[in-house]
Amino acid sequence: MPKVALYAGSFDPITNGHTDLIKRSLVFVDRLVVAVAENVQKQSLFTTEERVAMITASLDADPRVEVRAFHGLLVEFALSLKVQMVIRGLRAVSDFEYEYQMALMNRHLAPTLETVFMVPSLDTTYISSSMVREVAKFGGDITSLVHPVVASALKTKYGSKG
Ligand code: PNS
Repeated sequence: MPKVALYAGSFDPITNGHTDLIKRSLVFVDRLVVAVAENVQKQSLFTTEERVAMITASLDADPRVEVRAFHGLLVEFALSLKVQMVIRGLRAVSDFEYEYQMALMNRHLAPTLETVFMVPSLDTTYISSSMVREVAKFGGDITSLVHPVVASALKTKYGSKG
């Protein structure tokens, strides 16, 4: 049976931290679905279509990776695809509480679905989409934090100096 995992998030926008985890996960899964949440709690900067397009552009075309938007509960999307593993990145202790709670809530909703936490590379650990947005907004250099397509999209959103 091929191992299929779902890597879920808001990806608003995708960062080099996300792409690092995607590449790492492909070492142990046969296929990865990057699941882009449409109904993120916070107001997103980019539309779902923009986020999906930026993820696709940030990844070297790899037949093992599929980018899909989903609406509603993550567990329902995972079960509809017959996926049994959800991957989430853990950057720091501060991520843990929220991630642990979400993993247990997802297990409550779908006991057969496992959450797997992965550690990103040290040089991407400090990167978050929210900080990338903030730095870009005020004209800071984000070129080493995101794919050029994302840097250019942020520049367009905020203007060259924010
Ligand atoms: O990148 P993020 O914002 O940390 O990702 C969080 C996300 C989108 C994976 C999570 O909020 C989610 O799964 N949203 C869909 C609704 C849901 O299933 N929530 C989890 C049960 S509490």
